[in-house]
Amino acid sequence: MTIDDYILEHIDEEGAQLSRLYRDAHVRLLRPRMLSGPLQGRILKMLVRIHQPQRILEIGTYTGYATLCLAEALSPNGEIHTIEKDDEMEDFSREQFELSGLQDKIRLHIGDALEIIPQLEGNFDLVFIDADKRLYSEYYDLVFDKVNPGGIILADNTLWSGKVLEAPHSGDKQTCGIVDFNEKIKQDKRIEKVILPLRDGLTMIYKL
Ligand SMILES: C[S@@+](CC[C@H](N)C(=O)[O-])C[C@H]1O[C@@H](n2cnc3c(N)ncnc32)[C@H](O)[C@@H]1O
Repeated sequence: MTIDDYILEHIDEEGAQLSRLYRDAHVRLLRPRMLSGPLQGRILKMLVRIHQPQRILEIGTYTGYATLCLAEALSPNGEIHTIEKDDEMEDFSREQFELSGLQDKIRLHIGDALEIIPQLEGNFDLVFIDADKRLYSEYYDLVFDKVNPGGIILADNTLWSGKVLEAPHSGDKQTCGIVDFNEKIKQDKRIEKVILPLRDGLTMIYKL
C-alpha cells in the first residue's frame, strides 16, 4: 500500500457518481489525468464547507469532476460558474451535472475564459484557476476585481511536476506561464498566499 492509498482509505469517499465519472473519463477521454481526482476533490469540497462561498467560478471545467466536488458543499442558494473552451467536453460534463442532481447550481459557459470572464456579472467568493498554464497570470488579472475581499483564489498545478525549478532556462511556455504566475503572486501585496504541496501544487490565495 502506498501513502496515497492510505490517505484515500482514511478520508471521505468521493461517492458512486464521481467514481463512475473517473472511470468513464479514463475509458473515453484522451487526457484523464487532468481531472482533479479523489483527494483534491475532497479538499475542494472541504474548502467550500469551511469558507461557505455563495458564488464560485471555475476556469477549466474539463469533465466537471472538480465542479461537482465544489458544488456538493455549496449552500442551497449558492451557484458555481464554470468555463470550458473545448466544446467537445460539453456533452460529457452536462451529462455528469444532470446525473448528480446538482445541475441547478451549475452554470456552464463554453468558450475562452479570457472572453467570458469580463462578461460575467457579479462577484465571486471562491475562484478555482485550472485551465491553460500559459495564461494563469491573465486569468488572475481578469478575475481579481471580481473577487470579494475575504475571497479565495485557488490555482492548480503551480509546482508543475517540479519543472518550476528548471526555469528560467526552460523554453517550455507552460512552465514559464506557471513560473511567471508564481512570481506575480509572490509580489502581490493585496493578498496572502501559500502553496500546498498537494499533487502538482495547489496555491491558496486570500484576498485582503
Ligand atoms: C486541467 S483541465 C480542468 C480540470 C478540472 N478543473 C478538474 O479539476 O477536474 C483544464 C481544462 O481547461 C480548458 N481550457 C484551457 N484553456 C482554456 C481557456 N482559455 N478557457 C476555458 N477553458 C480552457 C481545457 O480545455 C481543459 O479542459
